[in-house]
Amino acid sequence: TSEKSDTDIRFVCRGTFVHSTAEEALQILEDALLGVDSEGKIAFIGEGKELQKLSENFGFSPSAVTQLQQHEFFMPGMIDTHIHASQYSYAGTALDMPLLQWLNTYTFPVESHFQDLEFAKKVYTQVVKRTLRNGTTTACYFATIHTDASLLLGQIANDFGQRALVGKVCMDRNDAVKYYRETSEESQEETYRFIKELLNKKYPLVKPVVTPRFAPSCTEALLAKLGEIAKNNKLHIQSHISENLEEVELVKELFPNSESYTDIYHKCNLLTDKTILAHGCHLSDEELVLFRKTGAALSHCPNSNISLCSGVLNVRNVLNHKVKLGLGTDMAGGYSPSILDAVRRALDSSKVLTIQDPEHKTLSFEEVFRLATLGGSQALSLDERTGNFKVGKDFDALRVNVAAPGGPIDVIQNEKPQSLNSHMRLSSSTCSLAGDDRNIVEVFVAGKKVVPFSEP
Ligand code: GUN
Ligand code: FE
Repeated sequence: TSEKSDTDIRFVCRGTFVHSTAEEALQILEDALLGVDSEGKIAFIGEGKELQKLSENFGFSPSAVTQLQQHEFFMPGMIDTHIHASQYSYAGTALDMPLLQWLNTYTFPVESHFQDLEFAKKVYTQVVKRTLRNGTTTACYFATIHTDASLLLGQIANDFGQRALVGKVCMDRNDAVKYYRETSEESQEETYRFIKELLNKKYPLVKPVVTPRFAPSCTEALLAKLGEIAKNNKLHIQSHISENLEEVELVKELFPNSESYTDIYHKCNLLTDKTILAHGCHLSDEELVLFRKTGAALSHCPNSNISLCSGVLNVRNVLNHKVKLGLGTDMAGGYSPSILDAVRRALDSSKVLTIQDPEHKTLSFEEVFRLATLGGSQALSLDERTGNFKVGKDFDALRVNVAAPGGPIDVIQNEKPQSLNSHMRLSSSTCSLAGDDRNIVEVFVAGKKVVPFSEP
């Protein structure tokens, strides 16, 4: 067993690690040892008592191991599967209208400003910094219809070290705000240019995603073309689906020959195992079956669903249909850019369903923790590389301090010291239910410390 590994170890940490696996929604590894190699991948994860053996096998010095504090733990970086980077400037305002009116009144006029690259740079820099600080190690972004500003978002994510999927938004139909739309040809050509130029940059953690805004803002011809582009280049796809009832009715009018909202995307080759569609509050069970068959995933955006009075997604039913599901902030439809907020709203939404129907099996904290990490990773088809602390995956992680000044654990500790075990159970809840970004001490993406920031 003393076989020597030729992996170069960059650093080793010792302490409590909390993550999800397929079998266990919340696995707590106490006094664990985790090594990260020179490529930022997890080289080993073992027990503290194996220190001597591991240090010999992997060739690192036991004295160089970083020891976590008693009130700290590592968890996987969180994954925001749906966020509009272009809507940050008005996050927390303008939630007084239902979806379609909200888009016409606030969203489209604001997004039209992103032809101004100075403005885009300012907003996108703030978004990337804010989400990273809040523990979003992977973000799946909508930008706007503007190719150059969308490329800039990719560059900024790369510069700050955030893993990102970035979409240039496509829309060749917009009767309400005519100055914010493209022709079908423009939309196709600019999508090609966006993909080509972003891939040419060879950013290691940033990928393009084909992004028809949603069926009502695209002609069927454009949807079909985008499906073809995604298929020929094996790209990710993102859009919206069945968010609100007025939208579902509009889609029936605009696509009279389709069996369902899901059927439209399916016919245009837009449902693949690299597709993620936001909301899905009003999908039928038949539509969920189509998701399951094609491997397409849903992004659950509970803050937005409540803020715009769109609906309440029955996550339990989605999970029972074995459809992949992650969490999304959907900022600015959701007022918070924090994925911890999405964790809380997901629990609240599930409890609302239980209030309405006591038979409904409420989501547990552990299940929602998994949705924010491993679930999101699976939904974005990134689970070969991210989502939990499996050997061979990239080290995307948050160092969490449960005893941040003024937090509940700080109060408890000062009253009466707790044993580590119950402590960690509490602490994992603290991080998302009573904590905030002040509890997130450090953020790592692919083994690189990206928070606190080193300004690019
Ligand atoms: N549907 C189409 N566009 C949007 C958007 O920007 N936000 C939300 N919440 N739903 C949409
Ligand atoms: Fe959205």
